[in-house]
Amino acid sequence: RKLRSLTIEGVVEFIKTEKPKNIIVMTGAGISTSAGIPDFRSPGSGLYDNLQKYDLPSPEAIFQIDFFEKNPEPFFTLAKELFPEDLKPTPCHYFIRMLEKKGLLRRWYTQNIDSLEYLTGLPEDKVVTAHGNHHTSTCRKCSTKYDLGWITAKLKDKSCKVPHCEKLSCGGVVKPDIIFFGEALPRRFFHCAIQDFPQCDLLLIFGTSLVVQPFASMVNEVDAECPRLLVNLEAVGRASRLEEMIGTTGLCYGRDGNTRDVFWKGSCDEGARKMADLLGWDAELDILIEQ
Ligand code: OAD
Repeated sequence: RKLRSLTIEGVVEFIKTEKPKNIIVMTGAGISTSAGIPDFRSPGSGLYDNLQKYDLPSPEAIFQIDFFEKNPEPFFTLAKELFPEDLKPTPCHYFIRMLEKKGLLRRWYTQNIDSLEYLTGLPEDKVVTAHGNHHTSTCRKCSTKYDLGWITAKLKDKSCKVPHCEKLSCGGVVKPDIIFFGEALPRRFFHCAIQDFPQCDLLLIFGTSLVVQPFASMVNEVDAECPRLLVNLEAVGRASRLEEMIGTTGLCYGRDGNTRDVFWKGSCDEGARKMADLLGWDAELDILIEQ
């Protein structure tokens, strides 16, 4: 079960001939930029280059839990302006949905908190939101849970700078259940990962810089022979020579001795459409996109 050629065509050929039934997809902010949501680290357009007005000690501080404890206002100001309404999944999102429709998808691990995965109609158990989501929110003081409707109303309310717990005499800050730096990932991430990754027969990675841990290191948790395809605007995820020498692994595309890793440089939507075309799924994909 090897790739005959280390190209995107070779990966599609592998899907056609080997019919892998345990494909794992890993995604990041790059798959949602075409839906109108900025990523984090792209120079110029990424979120971290556009936070000057918040006067933060560092751009990442806006998602750091210890900073949030001291000053939650920048996060909520950003949250209020970040997500436009009426978001629609991208062609790449729908391509992943098609993998599920064809019975090939084991699980979709996403770092994104935009919930666009669910809007494709994918069954919820197929998705693991590694960095949480904002379907629920929790009071930092008394742990009371609030639902999506509650937090959405608070974020839309111009007079509310920071949402506070409404339980009598509590008044704690209520934070959406997205994972901040310094917080543990959801239990479900570990629970699913430990079962899924050893079974993976093809790993597809779309639109992520592969720098945030532990998510990024999951590429190392598949079998040593398992083919891995990265579709991204830039080459990411490879350990440097020095890291390699001290035992840090990563993707091996472009390296001597690589027999299983492929990097396809381009947008997630183009990559997904190319795969759909080669698989003969293009018409079906168009129907899903237009639904
Ligand atoms: P990043 O912004 O770090 O990386 C996005 C990657 O996608 C970059 O390598 C871009 O070049 C690439 N990219 C952008 N648009 C693309 C497109 N249309 N097609 C293909 N590639 C594209 O975003 P993530 O890797 O998701 O965590 O960031 C990981 C985590 O860092 C986030 O979940 C968030 C952030 O801090 C937390 O806040 C905990």
